[in-house]
Amino acid sequence: MKRIAILTSGGDAPGMNAAIRAIVRKGIHEGFEVYGVKYGFAGLVAGDIYKLTSQDVSDKISRGGTFLYSARHPEFSKKQEVEKAIDNLKKIKIEGLVVIGGDGSFRGALALLDEGFPTIGIPATIDNDIPSTDYCIGFDTALNTVLDAVDKVRDTFTSHVRTAVIEVMGRNSGDIALWTGLAGGAEEIIIPEVEFDFENIANNITKRNRNHKKHNIIMVAEGTMKGSKFAHILSKYGDFEVRSIELGHVQRGGSPTAKDRVIASKFGSQAIEAFKKGKTGVCLGLINNEIVQNDLRDTLENQKHEAELALQDLNKEIS
Ligand code: F6P
Repeated sequence: MKRIAILTSGGDAPGMNAAIRAIVRKGIHEGFEVYGVKYGFAGLVAGDIYKLTSQDVSDKISRGGTFLYSARHPEFSKKQEVEKAIDNLKKIKIEGLVVIGGDGSFRGALALLDEGFPTIGIPATIDNDIPSTDYCIGFDTALNTVLDAVDKVRDTFTSHVRTAVIEVMGRNSGDIALWTGLAGGAEEIIIPEVEFDFENIANNITKRNRNHKKHNIIMVAEGTMKGSKFAHILSKYGDFEVRSIELGHVQRGGSPTAKDRVIASKFGSQAIEAFKKGKTGVCLGLINNEIVQNDLRDTLENQKHEAELALQDLNKEIS
């Protein structure tokens, strides 16, 4: 295999550029020609594919987002779209593809694999919810962005003795809420994986306020419910002032942290090593600090992401 391509798909994640850079630079070093696909699977179907040089990835490692652009393209579940994509790749003699993204992107990679096209997945999503990896590119940067916001909210909410409901991303996963809740000293962490009780939460806030606590921070993962709805319902259960803050897409932007740049570079490099050995149909992962290769199909079909629920228990003990 001499000619490969890369695409980034789904929600972007800080560190995607570092992964692309590593694939391009290491790929060229190992004798590959590397192509970039713009706008994810949409660009693959449209044939928006161009050759990347070492210079093209210069000055990209510190940038958030993805310079190959991204898109959500649910139409890729249709067989004709997949066939068109493979035609476009074969027309320019591309023999392998790296898909950088979350579980939706991995499903696209699997569709290509099912039609016989060699693919490798690299996990990148701030939700950190890909099964069989401890870590997805972008998570650490998003955590630090959220944490900065939580610290700022606490300053002003303390001055006014208010309760803050901070809605963070995580479509089906509570990882961002769990990590930033614990790291930010939140009083409550509400995640889709665990049930909660409004009355109980309201009673706790009332008790804390009676004990002269000046703020209550409640982290709500968007997969549970909208923060504004949560705040509205909660306000009916007690006599305290609640405001909701939706952090939104600010969580997905920004210059990647050192951790995201380093892990993205390792994943990129290992993708090239896998192509060298002819090992495709895999997605890379990080388990106990080691890069591992997991079967792409098994990852999507058989396993479920496990949130680190012990963080919620620890938070209850120390908040
Ligand atoms: O990429 C993951 C994610 O940021 C989720 O946390 C969020 O629910 C979703 O993407 C938002 O996607 P979009 O930017 O397409 O609205």
